[in-house]
Amino acid sequence: MNVISTSSKDGLRAKGGVGQSIAHESANRHVRGSAIYVDDMPETEGLLHAWVILSDRAHAKITTLDLSAVKVAPGVVCVCTADDIPGANDVAPILSNEPLLAKNVVEYWGQAISIIAAETEAQARAAASLAVIEYENLPALLTIDAALEAKSLVIKPMVMVRGDVDGAFARVGHMLEGEVRAGGQDHFYLETHVAQAEPAEEDEMRVISSTQHPSEVQHIVCRLLGAPYAAITVEVRRMGGGFGGKESQASQIAGMAAVLARLSRRPVRLRLSRDVDMMMTGKRHDVLGRFKLGFDDTGRIEAADIVIAIRAGNVPDLSGPVLQRALCHVDNAYYLPNVRVNGYACKTHTVSNTAFRGFGGPQGMVVAEAMIAHVAAKLGKTLDEVRAVNYYGGEGRDTTPYGQRVTDNNMPRILKEVEESASIAARREANAAFNASSPIVKKGLALFPLKFGISFNMPTLNQAGALIHVYTDGSVHLNQGGTEMGQGLYLKVAQVVAESFQIDIEHVRVSSTRTDKVPNTSATAASAGSDLNGMAALAAAETIKARMRDVAAAKFGVAVDEVIFANGRIYGGQKSLSFAELAKCCWLERVSLSAAGFYKTPDIHFDAETCTGEPFYYFTYGVCAAEAAIDTLTGENRILRADIIEDVGASLNPVIDIGQIEGAFIQGMGWLTMEELWWDKDGRLKTHAPSTYKIPTSRDIPVDFRVKLLGDAPNAKPTIFRSKAIGEPPFMLALACFLALQDAVASVVGAEKALRLEAPATPEAILRALGRVE
Ligand code: MTE
Ligand code: HPA
Repeated sequence: MNVISTSSKDGLRAKGGVGQSIAHESANRHVRGSAIYVDDMPETEGLLHAWVILSDRAHAKITTLDLSAVKVAPGVVCVCTADDIPGANDVAPILSNEPLLAKNVVEYWGQAISIIAAETEAQARAAASLAVIEYENLPALLTIDAALEAKSLVIKPMVMVRGDVDGAFARVGHMLEGEVRAGGQDHFYLETHVAQAEPAEEDEMRVISSTQHPSEVQHIVCRLLGAPYAAITVEVRRMGGGFGGKESQASQIAGMAAVLARLSRRPVRLRLSRDVDMMMTGKRHDVLGRFKLGFDDTGRIEAADIVIAIRAGNVPDLSGPVLQRALCHVDNAYYLPNVRVNGYACKTHTVSNTAFRGFGGPQGMVVAEAMIAHVAAKLGKTLDEVRAVNYYGGEGRDTTPYGQRVTDNNMPRILKEVEESASIAARREANAAFNASSPIVKKGLALFPLKFGISFNMPTLNQAGALIHVYTDGSVHLNQGGTEMGQGLYLKVAQVVAESFQIDIEHVRVSSTRTDKVPNTSATAASAGSDLNGMAALAAAETIKARMRDVAAAKFGVAVDEVIFANGRIYGGQKSLSFAELAKCCWLERVSLSAAGFYKTPDIHFDAETCTGEPFYYFTYGVCAAEAAIDTLTGENRILRADIIEDVGASLNPVIDIGQIEGAFIQGMGWLTMEELWWDKDGRLKTHAPSTYKIPTSRDIPVDFRVKLLGDAPNAKPTIFRSKAIGEPPFMLALACFLALQDAVASVVGAEKALRLEAPATPEAILRALGRVE
């Protein structure tokens, strides 16, 4: 057998390389309960537990802050207010002046005022209840509408314009104005925010944090402590879910633990309870969209004047980039020739909203689909008829409002495949017949086409690093800048390394993400984790491989390009060595088996001021067809069936990608159909526990749920093994569920009145749209 001429792709493949469906690296440990999260770490000698004293006003001056009883309560070791923070009282991720602890004024119900460390958590909690705080109430703005009216914004307005909007309005045959709203969403990660800070020599500290952004936690802890970045190491092995909620706001919890550890010179752990987590930390931005549209008889949109307003909360946090992404997705899959979008991030006296799966994309698309639905209702057409004349594609209709060309458009292919495999036409007929004979239960069916841009809008953030050591027994230590939150990033990057070295994946060990191993990293966000870190790890692996290849060539007496890595061995001429044997030879020859890798996404640029450029390296596409039923007497509803085809390029791991699609879709369904955040008139969040805040459970999964990856569709761009990102896009596919519910409502009250349906489409919202309740 001539193994040497056999490429690693022709059968001789290491186990667990790219494209193989293998289980999550911690699947076993997750199921057995032996995966260690921050709060599972054994308690070290002297560990203190922290708690937070929260504001119970939405907007007020603090007139008295008396912590004397707190300080002498049993077990209390340290009490800290804004004045005691050693460095700057600022946790802003992008701008500045976003306090860790409120001083003089509170700006939302649930804002942290003071932090306490005690010998036990129970003692810290008991002590917190002894604080005496008096306030003088100030007027509070709680909603988008109130903030817009008061012109209260956290950042200056954004504008994106393309074409001659006013001129186009003058030419069109039809015009309409419309409005749409969608609520916020709590991340409801199973593991609430948690961190542990361990002081070391002098100003040094190790911080173990449940964060998607270790480098930012490092920077913000240093800002709070007044320490150089090199003094602080941040580490994260895994999160029990992040979903964007641990992108910027984990630094608050880590910062609190670090400040208390510095002041007490003892290790401190802070783990928020569910209620405190929900009150104190930010959520998905709720959105208000208003639009004026000009269109022709076919429904083709010629002019669009759009306002997108999101509720930022008390400080900017990430609201700027979230709004930017909303603007960049208000086109969704549709060509808008003349368009103006004004974006407002409203300052309110509610918790600062933050990143959440989709990061403004879902909010932009809610507006996009409402525009299509309004045009369809006005012309008496179906959504699909209106979409058909508005899709990207065709002569001169391939550029987004921000100026990026839509290339490699897989939408027509995916649409056709879903329409056929889900028997859309036949099921529509069946539903019409069902609705005609069913007086109470009504069915609806709708498609949703998705186009989502991959890359951080800010080009700088599209970079990553990795560090690989090969040991002389052939085992490989892999460290990379991305974090693991359940999405399978560690596994995918390990698959990349196994593929490169052609070794079985069991030889690749991924270690915790640490700022002292890979520095200056971006958040694991924007679905770009495997794109960025996979490429960085590949670069590191290929550097070591090149050195190993030189050693092998000399040893085998062959040219360097005749050395082949395949299935755990290295071949040259008629000779071969195992990977471990070659590693040992390299060591004997004094050749380094360690390398760092780096990657930056090429060809992207974006001007945030003018909202123009090519911010995305590529687009992902997907289509969902959802069928829903409503009970017109109670408003209760169910998603009966969902068919999804998602474009993931050449999947790095199909079973992980399918899991991501299922999870994201159900989370999106939760946002649009049941999860309702509710504040009372004083600005107090009343839905801060699962008793009142309903997330989907296993019983809410569509009765018939069919998820497929688009076949034979490698990414046209040279991404990591031609894969495409998966983490966020399928979240938005759940818009099909909302549209299917709207379709069911329309079967009773007609398409125009069904536009009243608001998201989340709870039973109450459905009854309101049916006109059954106020
Ligand atoms: N999957 C799980 N299980 N848990 C999570 O917290 N976060 C999602 C997605 N999938 C998340 C998840 C979000 S918001 C993002 S941006 C991506 O994972 C981030 O990881 P990736 O870039 O490696 O896909
Ligand atoms: N998603 C998308 N874009 C982003 C994100 C995110 O989580 N963070 C910063 N830009």
